[in-house]
Amino acid sequence: MAVLLTGGAGYIGSHTAVEFLENGIDVAVVDNFSNSSPKAIERVEKLTGKKVALYEADVCDKEKMREIFKANEFDAIIHFAGYKAVGESVAKPIAYYRNNIDSALVLCELMTEFKVPGIVFSSSATVYGVPETVPLVETMPTGNCTNPYGWTKYMIEQILIDFARANDFAKVTLLRYFNPVGAHPSGEIGEDPLGIPNNLSPYVCQVAVGRRPFLSVFGNDYPTPDGTGVRDYIHVVDLAKGHLQAYRHMKQGVAAYNLGTGRGYSVLDLVETFKRVNNVDVPYKIVDRRPGDIATCYADPAKANAELGWKANLGLDEMCRDAYNWQRKYPNGYRD
Ligand code: UD1
Repeated sequence: MAVLLTGGAGYIGSHTAVEFLENGIDVAVVDNFSNSSPKAIERVEKLTGKKVALYEADVCDKEKMREIFKANEFDAIIHFAGYKAVGESVAKPIAYYRNNIDSALVLCELMTEFKVPGIVFSSSATVYGVPETVPLVETMPTGNCTNPYGWTKYMIEQILIDFARANDFAKVTLLRYFNPVGAHPSGEIGEDPLGIPNNLSPYVCQVAVGRRPFLSVFGNDYPTPDGTGVRDYIHVVDLAKGHLQAYRHMKQGVAAYNLGTGRGYSVLDLVETFKRVNNVDVPYKIVDRRPGDIATCYADPAKANAELGWKANLGLDEMCRDAYNWQRKYPNGYRD
């Protein structure tokens, strides 16, 4: 029995592979390396001393995927694979819908064909759209997404809900991530975005190692304590452990969980913490707001605490320390 990690060579997938392997669960990884490197899997194997069954394939390629399902006995799929850049999704919506929706449909079809019961889906807090109140609770309405990337997450949630309704054997878990940051404490695996980072933490890391001159802080006139945007940053190792707990607690039907810490920090909180724990300068300039950004977003993680026995343990200090440790060790990510 093994668990299939689609997109398992990516940022969250590779950290999740470590947690599963360290807990004695065999994993297979399927990845097309469109935004990841096979080196991540080599490092996962080195860190854990275990082998990963690695397949290079596109999840949309049903024939290739069928061969992978035939060659293994999966009891669950953790579905990470997908396009994930918000700005790019606005410019190329059809590519996003085609890739993200198709891959989910292929998985549902193959789960039916091979009677694979479980699927844990990488969803996002973005499915809540523009929140009316915080913290966000799973019972709040979803939809009203602000970009095609977010809509693909919303639509895949709906596809999986309908899939579970129609198939008694199905166990569907939707994990709504808040803002994953940090890296494995070894510094061997971490976030390695292609091109200019869209997200705050990788941008800060690249400024800290001198790859970029300064950080642009998108707006300081939000209704927040210091005027900059507030988010629920979560250490990627905590997030990976959330997947392990979700897998252990899979049950018939559908369950959605927020994976966040429940605490919000501003952009400047993160920058100041990063500077302090790493003793490094991070020059920044305040610029205009980024269109589509919201002021404040953080989770109520009580449901995951209660039902999955999961809680985020690592704080902003560890997130900033581990992110920088990885970036300093490998300033050019997996290209080093
Ligand atoms: C975005 C996506 C979210 C996705 C997540 C992936 C939306 C609205 N947001 O979240 O769906 O899951 O990325 O991690 O769909 N910031 C700067 N300067 C920068 C970059 C960011 O000031 O160079 C600020 C932003 O304005 C925001 C905060 O940092 O206040 C976090 O931004 P980011 O890391 O991009 O994540 P989100 O926009 O929260």
